[in-house]
Amino acid sequence: MTAQNQLLVPDTVSGEVIDLELGMGTVQFLPGTLTQTMGVNGPLLGPTIILQQGQTVTMNVSNQLGEPSTIHWHGMHVPPEADGGPHTPIAAGDTWSPSFAVLERASTHWYHPHLHMHTNEHVVKGIAGLIIVRDPLEAALVLPRTYGVDDIPLVLQTKQFDADNQVVVGDALDTHVLVNGTLDPYVDVPGQVVRLRLLNGASERVLNLGFTGNHAFHQIGTDGGLLAAPVQLTRLRLAPGERAELLVDLSALQGQSIGLVSFGSELPSAIYGAAQPGMGPGQTIPNYTLNPLNGNDFSLLQINVGPPTPNPITSIPGTLAVLTPWAEASANTTRTFTFTPVNMGPTAIQGPFLINGASFDMMNINFDVPLDNIEVWELTNQSPIAHPFHIHDVQFYILDINGATPPPNMQGRKDVVLVPAGMGTVRFITRFEDYSSYDVPYMYHCHMLPHEDDGMMGHFRVLPQDAGLSDDTALNGLMRAAPNPALTFWTSRWTPPWAWARSPSRTSRAA
Ligand code: C2O
Ligand code: CU
Ligand code: CU
Repeated sequence: MTAQNQLLVPDTVSGEVIDLELGMGTVQFLPGTLTQTMGVNGPLLGPTIILQQGQTVTMNVSNQLGEPSTIHWHGMHVPPEADGGPHTPIAAGDTWSPSFAVLERASTHWYHPHLHMHTNEHVVKGIAGLIIVRDPLEAALVLPRTYGVDDIPLVLQTKQFDADNQVVVGDALDTHVLVNGTLDPYVDVPGQVVRLRLLNGASERVLNLGFTGNHAFHQIGTDGGLLAAPVQLTRLRLAPGERAELLVDLSALQGQSIGLVSFGSELPSAIYGAAQPGMGPGQTIPNYTLNPLNGNDFSLLQINVGPPTPNPITSIPGTLAVLTPWAEASANTTRTFTFTPVNMGPTAIQGPFLINGASFDMMNINFDVPLDNIEVWELTNQSPIAHPFHIHDVQFYILDINGATPPPNMQGRKDVVLVPAGMGTVRFITRFEDYSSYDVPYMYHCHMLPHEDDGMMGHFRVLPQDAGLSDDTALNGLMRAAPNPALTFWTSRWTPPWAWARSPSRTSRAA
């Protein structure tokens, strides 16, 4: 079978000021009725934002959706006020203009809405885009980096359409596979070493990526940038929210095609995308077994290999970046997070899910972290399905998964990790540097968007070290007592009710 549609490659935007307009649109996905969509500077998805390490950037996010939304810079280390979480809604018609310094390493991030209880809707209708950060260390490596030629962005998503061709929000019949918003796509690439920047931008589906013919590839980057060295693989499991950068040597395949495939038949039970989404046959999701993608292999992209470019990259570098994970002994706090279903028994898998027994509560900050703390977070999944756990503000290093050292391709900087079902555990280590605020917290949550919208999320503040911290602060009590606090949260010029307790918050990196 031959793919029908040329892969759409998003435009790029760069510079000190970047204008992003969220709006409604229509797309002809299927024969017949047009599909109502949401997009950024266009009807679907958004431009790829290219940033240079060390620059500052102002994002002018104009919301023309006719309803509130937010934009979050997923994976980026930015001040909480600029992070775009649910506490920073952009009212219909307003423009939000956060500015921040780009402190990242060369890496691939993404941006998407984060309005509480509407994240899945806004993402699945089409708002998502990539962020590519460049830095001098990466620029000095011999790597493909000509955007759209030998460095190809791939936003991998699935969607469900109803009988009227409209996007369905939150059901298990996500039977349509899209790459960069293109159904049934092909891409023409040169016959040389090509870089693929992958994002799993699906709402729930875990992908088990590989190529037809088991063509080997090298993973060179994780969520937070380059690995220490390329890792050769034939399969890569990518959970919602995760990114990966790959190098694929196509020089022997000129004139031929290979396919990027998700080998869903190989996914073990208790992962969304496997034949069994739960621990056993009784634990399933309504409509799940009707979806032919589940438990089966399916094609994402047909790659047609043509002649090489004039100065092709032909080899895989031996080493990439220097990684400096924190030693476990340097951690001064360990926090535990336990995931449980609200319902027990066969419907447990349908959620909602809780973290430490609680659902997300906008008015109750879960805990405060002292600035510069090095922490170990221990995640335990007491539910029957794997959850991709994500944290804002930081990149982390995985210490272990079910007690075992992670494989080499997971030893890089990460901001999403899939926590195995059925008492699975993950421990990671991270440091909360540079930014603190009394006013706006950072989020942690499951990146299966219906789970997040259903409350599988929490928030924490990073506070200056002299702040007098506790896990159940008087400040939180004040928040609960404030009149109509939910309304105060909704305004863009929100003054927190505990402003009296405020001391200077550091919202940019100290000089
Ligand atoms: Cu990609 Cu809090 O999200
Ligand atoms: Cu994020
Ligand atoms: Cu989840």
